[in-house]
Amino acid sequence: MSDSNVKIFDTTLRDGEQVPGCKLNTDQKVIIAEQLDILGVDVIEAGFPVSSPGDFKSVEAISKMVKNATVCGLTRSVENDIKVAAEALTYAKHARIHTGIGTSDSHIKHKFKSNKEAIIERAVKAVKYAKSFVEDVEFYAEDAGRTDNEYLARVCEAVIKAGATVLNIPDTTGYCLPSEYGAKIKYLKENVRGIDKAVLSCHCHNDLGLATANSIEGVINGARQIECTINGIGERAGNTALEEVVMILKQHPYLELDTNINTSMLYGMSQLVSDSMGIYTQPNKAIVGANAFAHSSGIHQDGMIKNRGTYEIINPKDVGVTESAIILTARSGRAALAYRAKHVGYELTKIQLDDVYANFLSFADKKKEINDSDIHQIIETSKVYQQIISA
Ligand code: KIV
Ligand code: ZN
Repeated sequence: MSDSNVKIFDTTLRDGEQVPGCKLNTDQKVIIAEQLDILGVDVIEAGFPVSSPGDFKSVEAISKMVKNATVCGLTRSVENDIKVAAEALTYAKHARIHTGIGTSDSHIKHKFKSNKEAIIERAVKAVKYAKSFVEDVEFYAEDAGRTDNEYLARVCEAVIKAGATVLNIPDTTGYCLPSEYGAKIKYLKENVRGIDKAVLSCHCHNDLGLATANSIEGVINGARQIECTINGIGERAGNTALEEVVMILKQHPYLELDTNINTSMLYGMSQLVSDSMGIYTQPNKAIVGANAFAHSSGIHQDGMIKNRGTYEIINPKDVGVTESAIILTARSGRAALAYRAKHVGYELTKIQLDDVYANFLSFADKKKEINDSDIHQIIETSKVYQQIISA
């Protein structure tokens, strides 16, 4: 693996599917996993096998079908979880067990009613047990975002010694600022003995809208895996959005970080996940929202028509969107109207455009958005119509 390569660990089918009302059946999960594999994700977290017979079946079916990606199953630091995950992953070409335990004071005190030393013991025991089934074991320190760095480093050191190959540092509650999360990763890189034997992984939640920024700070500071979901779906405010981190790394090549993702599949992938889960994607969602490449104000439209780069930093084709949209509303100017009229077959002179534009404004004031058939009607009812068609 080159040091510039950031692994993409997709957890749409595990953390993403925890969204209320978004449960998928095995067939739907297999279809999504197949597309994720073609998309080029490095790891597919297929589920939490011990949680239900249905989830076990899905992880097993995905393991049988996936050709390239590593297939991963989540567990707690509980022997039976690990044994069941190993069973579900039997047929995977590349299998990973993802085990872990809460490490923040709040988790240790309230969830486990335990103490720091006992938590390290449980973590080590779980990793060793997972290691008896598979070589590739990822350890998560749940609530690492609120775990003090010194203790977190001790946990990491112990689980690396026990055989963990990937260390997941989740900001489970989405609390960290990007500078804090980045500093945490840097601290672990600099203070954990044996850290070069493991990959640090970012797993950020979006409670304060910082999941993407935190993951990017994580990789800038030395992490080499990002855990994310399509459309950023997930518990509460969701997880880091896959399409966002991938495009940030692509659009900022000077960071010298890249992924194996075929970005032209991003839009289709987003549609597949939102249709399968019945969860709509907000129109202003970065990269894949319906308005991500739509321009509606006159000033922006004029700039776009003259040069796309004036208002777009991504070529829509790079993410699988056919073309940018010039939306006609009462805020649009003559340039946008001429552009859209040309699209539906009318080449207007400057004088004709002045007249058609006046007619357009009275239509647009009554309607939210002007579509192609409205444009025909606007032109047909303008004073210069005969002149336009006889030209
Ligand atoms: O957010 C989190 O801490 C998790 C772990 C179970 C990996 O999803
Ligand atoms: Zn999570």
